[in-house]
Amino acid sequence: MTILVLLGSRNACCVTATVILIKGGEVVNHDLQMKADVLIKDGLIAEVAPNIKAPAGAKVIDASGSYVMPGGIDPHTHLAMPFMGQVACDDFYSGQAAALAGGTTMHIDFALPVNHNLLAGFKEWQAKAQLACADYGFHMAVTKWNSQVAEDMGKLVQQGINSFKFFMAYKGALMVNDEELLQGFVRCRQLGALPQVHAENGEAVALGQQLVFEAGITGPEGHALSRPAVLEGEATGRAIRLASFVGVPLYVVHVMSIDAMEEVARARKAGLPIIGEPVASGLALDESAMWDANFTKAAAAVMSPPIRSKQHGVALKKALAGGLLQLVATDHAVFNSSQKAVGRGDFRVIPNGVNGLEERMHVVWQEMVVSGLITPRDFVRITSTAAAQIFNVYPRKGCIAPGSDADVIVLDPRVKHTISAATHHSRIDTNVYEGKEIQGKVTVTISRGRLVWFEGKLNVEPGSGRFIPLPTHGPLFDGIDKAGADTAARLVKAFAAENGATPVVREDA
Ligand code: URP
Ligand code: ZN
Ligand code: ZN
Ligand code: ZN
Repeated sequence: MTILVLLGSRNACCVTATVILIKGGEVVNHDLQMKADVLIKDGLIAEVAPNIKAPAGAKVIDASGSYVMPGGIDPHTHLAMPFMGQVACDDFYSGQAAALAGGTTMHIDFALPVNHNLLAGFKEWQAKAQLACADYGFHMAVTKWNSQVAEDMGKLVQQGINSFKFFMAYKGALMVNDEELLQGFVRCRQLGALPQVHAENGEAVALGQQLVFEAGITGPEGHALSRPAVLEGEATGRAIRLASFVGVPLYVVHVMSIDAMEEVARARKAGLPIIGEPVASGLALDESAMWDANFTKAAAAVMSPPIRSKQHGVALKKALAGGLLQLVATDHAVFNSSQKAVGRGDFRVIPNGVNGLEERMHVVWQEMVVSGLITPRDFVRITSTAAAQIFNVYPRKGCIAPGSDADVIVLDPRVKHTISAATHHSRIDTNVYEGKEIQGKVTVTISRGRLVWFEGKLNVEPGSGRFIPLPTHGPLFDGIDKAGADTAARLVKAFAAENGATPVVREDA
């Protein structure tokens, strides 16, 4: 790709270029694709049209032969997260820089409470995000139930958090029980906030881990063996049924198995507002890495729910192509090989998590578009637009149109490259996609009008990123809001609709 600089940008450094014209590319939105130029001014998209004349001082980028698409939105990351005795080694600067180099311009990170205190957790995550160099939002985890938690959820939605995550696994740490889950769902419904679940049966996982370990299987393969897909399917089905009972939409994070995917698909067929989020690793990889004779390689692939056998990945990709699953995340939670090494001799204490923030766009392009499963428009939908819609920031994000934030990438389908820890930008010293060949490369990333990835170089500064508040009552709440927030009233109404009768007032009561 040739880069034409008609006139120098206002400042010597291209990071500060305020007017950018992307010429001659194929502009792709989730619903429309056309040959057009894109004019960017002061952080926003100013115009999308054929043959735009370059304004004086504009930086002109020749995108002929390439796709011009909305920057990726990764709805599931864990930067600088304290977890299983370690702290994830990508912070908001290194993780976001890596994201930008891979074409992702926004992510939503999971803030964790501090000693179950949500406001303290929010504060801690705000402090971590001082290093940010890209746009980000937060989800908040709920790890216990009491009136303080309910009150704090109400405060957090005022601050731009519109989703709360409940862990059904990690017994003795983050896990909540069904009572806590139900209380949390009811509160989410009142607030118009989206509940999310990590769906695995945590009690059964704990038993499985104990039995597998006692059987003498202590290596990373024990991780896969101890938490099979059936436990993911059970928890997914349970969470969906409980959400339907409460009358709240539900977002199932990291759908890793056919078992869980089929629960989501069944619910959607029944008309329920359920979102299923597969992650890049679950689509592209299989569990064989956990059987590798090299511990470092095997431990690098340990995440929860586990990466499954090949047939699961194939089915997840088809479900995504057919619309049964809606968008792709990463669950980027990276622990380097010395951190993973604490689990030598006991798979139960290997910190869980894999990389993906930098790789997601390329992996999805390869697995879904190059393979012929979906079109570039679908690619935009599952990597960007759907996340913007679900988390209620569309069309500000996830769209190339006048007035939208200028988060734009150029992807050149002619460029071949190979993923490797030797060349990635994340701080992790391994890469679960090591050696994976990709046909197509993000050659340009523009974040809110700043040229941050260009000619193979990052132009980023810590502190330049921005918090994007996510408003409540997103599109998933449309029908729900109409039904009213009172569970009992809704149950009565549903009963009447189904049976043509309402509860009676008894004479002898
Ligand atoms: O293994 C994983 N997924 N680590 C991050 C925490 C979580 O469960 O999302
Ligand atoms: Zn520069
Ligand atoms: Zn999880
Ligand atoms: Zn996660």
